Amino acid sequence: MLFGRIDHIGVAVSDIDAAVRLYAQQFDMREQHRETVEEQGVEAVLLEVGDGHVELIKPLSEDSGVGKFIAKNGPGLHHVAYACDDIDQALGAVRDAGLQLIDKEPRRGIRNSRVAFLHPKSTGGVLTEIVEPAH
Ligand code: CO
Repeated sequence: MLFGRIDHIGVAVSDIDAAVRLYAQQFDMREQHRETVEEQGVEAVLLEVGDGHVELIKPLSEDSGVGKFIAKNGPGLHHVAYACDDIDQALGAVRDAGLQLIDKEPRRGIRNSRVAFLHPKSTGGVLTEIVEPAH
């Protein structure tokens, strides 16, 4: 299998502290990690849920990818991320399968993971991220 599990779902937010409070109070989900990921133009918080995470992402600027997403759609579900052991292999496999890539090469993600995004045009409308967690 190409992917091992769902690593996280990404949720675009305009107020990250309000979102953290909402998930804590309504779902008893705790903040596990917070980081500014310059490469993706976001401040991100990982919330614990079982083996996976909800990744809250707040744009650092309006002209970032997530900033444009919120301007167009408002806050909400942004992407799904699948974990893999070897992102170079997984990215090669989806490229060979003809999927349209946003990232031709993996880049740095949260917690020193390596990540790459696939274009929603070739994944049925779902922005899809592949993650190789830091070892
Ligand atoms: Co993500």
